[in-house]
Amino acid sequence: MNLTAEQERRAHATYRRLAVVDFPEDLRLGLNLGFYRTFAVPAIARVLTGTGKMTGRPKARAKATGAVMYTLIEHGLDHPTGRETVALLNRLHAHLPVGDEEFVYVLAAFCVAPLRWIDARSWRSTTEAEKDAAFDFYAGLAQRMGIKGVPGSYTALATWMDEFEERRFANTAEGRALLDATRGLLADRFPRLPTAPVRAASDALLDERMLVAFGVEPPPSAVRGLVGAALRWRASRLRRRHRHRGPNR
Ligand code: HEM
Repeated sequence: MNLTAEQERRAHATYRRLAVVDFPEDLRLGLNLGFYRTFAVPAIARVLTGTGKMTGRPKARAKATGAVMYTLIEHGLDHPTGRETVALLNRLHAHLPVGDEEFVYVLAAFCVAPLRWIDARSWRSTTEAEKDAAFDFYAGLAQRMGIKGVPGSYTALATWMDEFEERRFANTAEGRALLDATRGLLADRFPRLPTAPVRAASDALLDERMLVAFGVEPPPSAVRGLVGAALRWRASRLRRRHRHRGPNR
């Protein structure tokens, strides 16, 4: 699918507003959750543990990934900085021992997982136009990264992602090592709290398919209830804040 430069510009403006203005925290968390999903794909987990960055220096790797993605979101794909960033991505990903399907999956995880998180947990759902814009933005990235086989719409990509996960998610030692390294990151954010409840609360952010894939026990229902209540409280606070701010932000 080839968009005109003007269509791409509009899609980027809509996606940027979603990511930076309307859902800054949710999109960041959603990108992280999307990244964690990729650990449940054995071929991807093998490569990521192979480089040692994610398991050895998880904080630095997570930060670097976020910084690169936000540079793209902030500037767009055709801004000089965006172009440099795409070139960097192409260098980082040259000669990885994975196929196009794995690339489409990582793309889907970055595109779809944050929007699903927002729809389930944030102060409002994303609109069709926002979903289309997110898709157009990531399809444009795929095109510039030479990724083949990307489904043709947001809905098709989301369906493809579910089907891929059913087919390919599996519990491996590499995947668990990656998950444990990132769970440690969350616990580090709350140094004064005991690790076990923080870990249980962070597991409550993972969905059933991921928990099953990693063989992680679902957190106790009391923890899930508390996390759910905290997120609903947060959503209503954000809703009020956005209502007061009005549409002309
Ligand atoms: C469209 C799909 C993808 C996007 C948008 C993407 C995004 C990124 C980003 C933003 C970084 C920079 C992190 C840094 O600077 O350290 C990175 C690095 C990297 N990515 Fe990807 N990625 C994609 C697909 C994949 C796939 C399919 C694999 C296969 C396992 C992969 C493996 C890696 C590796 C090995 C690095 C180098 C850093 C390290 O060793 O951990 N990526 N990716």
